[in-house]
Amino acid sequence: MIPQPTAQQALPDQTFTLESDATIGLDDAAARAIADQLAVQLRRSTGFALPIQEGTGTIALSTKGAESLGAEGYELRADASGVVVTAATAEGLFRGVTTLRQLLPAKADADTTQDGPWEIAGTTISDAPRYSYRGVMLDVTRHFFTVDQVKHFIDLVSRYKINQLHLHLSDDQGWRIQVDSWPRLTEYGGSLQVGGGAGGSYTKDDYAEIVRYAGEHYMTVVPEIDTPGHTNAALASYPELNKGDVAPELYTETEVGFSSLAIDKDVTYEFLDEVFREVAEQTPGDLLHLGGDEAHSTEHGEYLTFVAKATELVVKNGKRVMGWHEVADGTLPAGSVVQYWGTEDPKAQVLAQRAVEQGATLVLSPANRSYLDMKYHAETPLGLDWAGLVSVEQSYSWNPATLIPNVPADAIAGVEAPLWTETLDDLAKVEFMVFPRLPGIAELGWSSEEALDWETYQERLAEEAPRWEVLGVNFYRAPEIDWR
Ligand code: ACM
Repeated sequence: MIPQPTAQQALPDQTFTLESDATIGLDDAAARAIADQLAVQLRRSTGFALPIQEGTGTIALSTKGAESLGAEGYELRADASGVVVTAATAEGLFRGVTTLRQLLPAKADADTTQDGPWEIAGTTISDAPRYSYRGVMLDVTRHFFTVDQVKHFIDLVSRYKINQLHLHLSDDQGWRIQVDSWPRLTEYGGSLQVGGGAGGSYTKDDYAEIVRYAGEHYMTVVPEIDTPGHTNAALASYPELNKGDVAPELYTETEVGFSSLAIDKDVTYEFLDEVFREVAEQTPGDLLHLGGDEAHSTEHGEYLTFVAKATELVVKNGKRVMGWHEVADGTLPAGSVVQYWGTEDPKAQVLAQRAVEQGATLVLSPANRSYLDMKYHAETPLGLDWAGLVSVEQSYSWNPATLIPNVPADAIAGVEAPLWTETLDDLAKVEFMVFPRLPGIAELGWSSEEALDWETYQERLAEEAPRWEVLGVNFYRAPEIDWR
């Protein structure tokens, strides 16, 4: 199982077997959608009717108990008489059902009818996350991914109890979210992608559908509008956003650090206010990410001015600020979240410490550990290597609590695995970089410190292979793992 639960005990003489007359019971209408999702999948693979009923059932989902485990915690018991998942909230039930699906044989995830038996070795589990923020980032700017592709991505990553979907929505190569007050952002700024092919963008309905689908998988969308650098697509769309009022060409290569919004113009802040308002209005989560990374073409004093003004606009539009660690050089509003993407660079660590001194919390995305676009080894056909080669062991074997010196444990909100897509233009390539590394980052975010152990993790990871085969996931068979 990944992530490893906080506590698990075997019930040695008991086996649960899902039979054709099984039912799914629930005692809370809020769990209906969760029961439906489970039933839809198990009907497909088992061929059983699996009616959903109020009250108890062969598989019982209950929100009467487990209060001490928090909003995401749950208890699960599988024995000869049935399975009971108990949580204080629907969200906790969803996490528990994620575990239940991992306990069932891999073929339970098939989309055609399979032969049983459908057995689970008797067990009791009591589980709750170490960190509240367990994210994955998808860059839809360098290459665009459709709503259906993003949904498929959500299906796969939510299996590992990931609860935040950070969408990198604007960059030099493309603007990917409709903004009614600045329509050329998508009409023109979203038209291309890396390599010069057709790009794309999300209409408001598209974005709403991603938010809804993520929510159904208990994932919160964190939208990122990257500023003041990484803005060529916006600058190309609107000349007035440029220092010299001249729009650059659209850009379809992969260099970074050459673009900047005009820091001293009022129109820049009118633009950001309207963009943030429209994005915030459509985002139920309380974070809005304003980027802030690699602003190499913004003079440093101007950068600090920008951070103060832009963060204020995020707050004005009702969201908490999230930004890459460079923003911590500026003054941050209360409640900000700073995303660390450094390696072992002391300058980046100082910025993380400065963020904490200002009262911000940290999301850890060390590039040499958690960046899913880094090559596994020198010959990996996809990905980049500027942060080093990131083997499965390298991505798993670190401790969020001690990554950055002189940062108190309670300043760590969690972890995130970003996937940049300069070299990834389809889902098969995305899957190849995400799996098998993402489950390890998910475990670092969920499991207790004592559970983290490369030796036993490898064995649990190897057991995911049959499941990915059933699901058709194009995972990398890293030779360091003894795959089943
Ligand atoms: C980053 O990788 N520029 C956040």
